[in-house]
Amino acid sequence: MTATIAHSLPTAKAQPHGTWEDRYLGSARALQDCVETLMDRMNMAVIYGGDKTADGAVINQTSNPRSWKSYKSVAQDIAGALRRLGCPRVSVIPDDMQFGRRLTENEVHMAWLNTGGVQGYSPLCHAASMLEMMGIPYVGHDPMTAGILDRKDVFKRFLMALGFPTAPFITWNMAEGPLDPASNERFRRVHGDHAGPFIVKPVSGRASLNVHWVEGRGGLSAAVASVHEATRSLVMIEPYLPGREFCVAVSGYVTAQRRELRRHKDPFVVCAIERVFQPDERIVTSMDVRPITGDRLRVLDPEQDAAVLRELADLGRAVYREMNIESLIRFDVRADEAGRLKILEANPKPDLKAPSRGQTSLVAASLSAFGMSYDDLILSLLADRLAFLFGERPGCVGRLKALLD
Ligand SMILES: Nc1ncnc2c1ncn2[C@@H]1O[C@H](COP(=O)(O)OP(=O)(O)O)[C@@H](O)[C@H]1O
Ligand SMILES: [Mg+2]
Repeated sequence: MTATIAHSLPTAKAQPHGTWEDRYLGSARALQDCVETLMDRMNMAVIYGGDKTADGAVINQTSNPRSWKSYKSVAQDIAGALRRLGCPRVSVIPDDMQFGRRLTENEVHMAWLNTGGVQGYSPLCHAASMLEMMGIPYVGHDPMTAGILDRKDVFKRFLMALGFPTAPFITWNMAEGPLDPASNERFRRVHGDHAGPFIVKPVSGRASLNVHWVEGRGGLSAAVASVHEATRSLVMIEPYLPGREFCVAVSGYVTAQRRELRRHKDPFVVCAIERVFQPDERIVTSMDVRPITGDRLRVLDPEQDAAVLRELADLGRAVYREMNIESLIRFDVRADEAGRLKILEANPKPDLKAPSRGQTSLVAASLSAFGMSYDDLILSLLADRLAFLFGERPGCVGRLKALLD
């Protein structure tokens, strides 16, 4: 992979010319010139999850069906990379009720979404919705896509409708009372005579929190009740897939290697790793409990793992295209007992922690295999989003266009 990438790096230093359309939709070098000019001139804000208990954060504190995390330190990692890349004015701000005021005070031209929300239901869409409403362009998914991707049941319905492999499941709504697998028609229809094991998990979650391995049908009712108690939302029940587990992340059509932009005809795979399980692990232990370290993952080898790498890349790119994804997404994929890959879920805001002191993030860990550094990844995501917005959403980038004049 590295050899192919290095081989096709652009070398010619084209001079920027023509209208912004020519420059944005033209060569990678011309795009690079525009991105660098914008980075030099625009004020950016990296957004992290606001704390609902802070003064003036919300009107009423409610619950968090999706386990809350601020992601502030990752937002600072992203901001640090943006500054190194030549964007000197980057603020790091929470997405609470003061969001609009902070964006105005900092005269923010463009935002970067690194938030799982403050509280409430469908929290992954909240900041994106506010930015859409306020007219601030951003790196991240639009509200609808973020909402779909963060709801495992909704996303899996899309996968099934499109013919992509994913395990069968039912969701349980506790408003119907406790789940009784023996008498429940939907359970019988979906799970047939599968006796176990099962996985019971929240429809919107993160980092394996509240994910239960359940040996047999007898344990399901209690597990469902416990996930419901923790999340106050729908609960998903699917068969346990005992095979190898992988992550594949796909970004857009523009990438940076050694800070040089390239355009691709296919969505670009930026991460392909296998999870390494300890003997006592049936599912990935939460990164809140065991941080992501090098021994917990294996970067897939282009030769040794060629077949699975191709399968993962094809799957990731195909879902990216079919669902019209517009920014980075990381799929968690696991094999069944026969080795067939099934998509577990999609992460619309994959962890982008920069590697440090033995800890890393899944996406950052395999970047070197793709000829990229952490700063290249950040530049890739920004440039790809800018290229998309200027090309496809010109009405949303009026203030950015003005900065180029
Ligand atoms: N059906 C399943 N079969 C096997 N393992 C599963 C299944 N669903 C989830 N897991 C395990 O639980 C972990 C967390 O589940 P996931 O669906 O990725 O949710 P999240 O990462 O949002 O908590 C996965 O990484 C995997 O190890
Ligand atoms: Mg996951």
